[in-house]
Amino acid sequence: SNTAEEQMYRPNFHFTPKKGWMNDPNGMFFSNGYYHLFYQHYPDGNTWGPMHWGHAISKDLIKWEEQPIALYPDKDKYIFSGSAVVDTHNTSGLGTGKTAPIIAIYTLHDMAKEKAGKIDVEQQDIAFSNDNGFTWQKFEEGNPVVKNPGIRDFRDPKVSWDETHKQWIMALAAQDRIHFYKSSNLKNWEFASEFGKNIGAHGGVWECPDFFEIKVEGTKEKKWVLIVNLNPGGPNGGSGVQYFVGDFDGKTFMMDQSFAERVKNEKAVWADYGKDNYAGVTWNNVPTSDGRRLFIGWMSNWDYAQQVPTTTWRSSTTIPRELKLVKKGNHYNLVSTPVKEINNYVSKTIKTKSKTGKGTLNLIENGKVDLTQTVISLDLKNLKQEDYAFTLSNANGESLSFGLNNKENYLFVDRSKAGKMDFSDKFALPVSKAFLEGSQKSAAFKIILDKTSIEIFYNNGEKVMTEIFFLNKPFTSLSITSKEKMEVNNVIIQELNV
Ligand code: FRU
Repeated sequence: SNTAEEQMYRPNFHFTPKKGWMNDPNGMFFSNGYYHLFYQHYPDGNTWGPMHWGHAISKDLIKWEEQPIALYPDKDKYIFSGSAVVDTHNTSGLGTGKTAPIIAIYTLHDMAKEKAGKIDVEQQDIAFSNDNGFTWQKFEEGNPVVKNPGIRDFRDPKVSWDETHKQWIMALAAQDRIHFYKSSNLKNWEFASEFGKNIGAHGGVWECPDFFEIKVEGTKEKKWVLIVNLNPGGPNGGSGVQYFVGDFDGKTFMMDQSFAERVKNEKAVWADYGKDNYAGVTWNNVPTSDGRRLFIGWMSNWDYAQQVPTTTWRSSTTIPRELKLVKKGNHYNLVSTPVKEINNYVSKTIKTKSKTGKGTLNLIENGKVDLTQTVISLDLKNLKQEDYAFTLSNANGESLSFGLNNKENYLFVDRSKAGKMDFSDKFALPVSKAFLEGSQKSAAFKIILDKTSIEIFYNNGEKVMTEIFFLNKPFTSLSITSKEKMEVNNVIIQELNV
């Protein structure tokens, strides 16, 4: 492999396959001490191709160990995205006794049918594992478990156990809407309802849904969240991840009234406003004693994913995130923060109480911190209606800016000067924005930097922006600029060593 490429672009603490193409995260579950992550993978090339399920495991969601490929396609029968569940009570009957079987549910995409111009190219199949998810067998005698009903785009089943209604439920992307199915044994599925026609963003096809019940923070109330990935038509072009909040009676998902109004006003509500968080879904079977809802996305965008300047591998995942549902006024908001396990890898902490001034304030001076494996937290106080622009830069003249426009009320990321651009005409422009409800009095930022990515968690994850970049030299400094006097508080810089 190419050493310069490894040094410059292989992320320090985000998962990448050793070799070959990766897109969506698939089939995540927790079992027997390990978080499992599968992913859309083409091991023999660095662009999309015959889809396999690659596999990696982690004890803490941060350090990943790649495993042998879990599912191989048969000729022309690509293994598309899907999910996996731990079948604790062997409802499927596919267990052999010693441990609970793990059932993977995925879309089988028939390329031969596609080439022949057929409609029914996608169906839902299952595979099972009787060794806690390390080796798999396709359920040849029973597949498909959901036949194609005559819809071309019919894929990405997300199955989970619905504890409230004691049933397995499946959310499936069916072109421009979600189909819900239910089952008692994971093999026979009954259509329950659909959701989404003319609701939310529809710039492209709906893909990779997720559906789960979640407690509203600080209350006993529970709501259901439906995540729907969309490509194209994302908030800043290309791929994006939107969500809906509501109730589920075991058959039908009904959007919450105030959330429905929000969807109408904002056209869609997004779990991430950057360009590079797609196909994100959550882990199944995270212990209830833990109770976390854990999410991971593919840190790229179909607009340019196959052109980004790496050759040995292409793409990485986002940092795993904990999702919470927070109610503010009568608005429900899905909040994401990086998983707490990242704190175990902090090797150096630099704290500064406060900095005030106007013009440009240096937050990290040239070379003082390794900005390829860093978490930066800080608060801005007593804000004016002004621009507050952070700039990461290096001696090569490359820079990335992000921050808050407090006049026009948005967060932004501008990577148009952040290194290589010429591999795609869609990569740099326009500046990505996340609109806020009004001008802000204060703002808290948590920023996660790896060699090729920035993940910005605003106000404890109320809004998130994730973007990738490809520098010729690493960033060596961070500053903030504003025309008005500013107050930067509680600056905490943590270097990681993963
Ligand atoms: C989303 C997606 C899925 C599909 C998979 C194929 O990125 O298009 O809908 O299952 O990728 O690799």
